[in-house]
Amino acid sequence: MESVNIHVYDQQGTLHILEGVAGWRVMEVIRDYGLPIKAECGGACSCATCHVYVDDAWMHALPPPHEEESERLDDAFDVNEYSRLSCQIILTPSMNGLIVRLAAGTEP
Ligand code: FES
Repeated sequence: MESVNIHVYDQQGTLHILEGVAGWRVMEVIRDYGLPIKAECGGACSCATCHVYVDDAWMHALPPPHEEESERLDDAFDVNEYSRLSCQIILTPSMNGLIVRLAAGTEP
């Protein structure tokens, strides 16, 4: 399986470089490393507690959010144009080096 590294800034601004695997959800990698992400619904796109901000340089590299994700994001705090639900971003090899920031309100 192909590893895909992601760069995650936690809610305090500390950078963590995590090794994920293609096919995994970004939320799963963050959670499995023990970073503070609530991800209450476990990836079912029904809680919005896996909210992240995707780095500007990476916005174009991700598939756009589907309708369900966009609707659920309305429940998150401080949503902006970089907001995504990390459980809805499935890693691909082209996402190696992806940079995201955990949003406020995602702490367990
Ligand atoms: S984990 Fe619940 S919406 Fe992502």
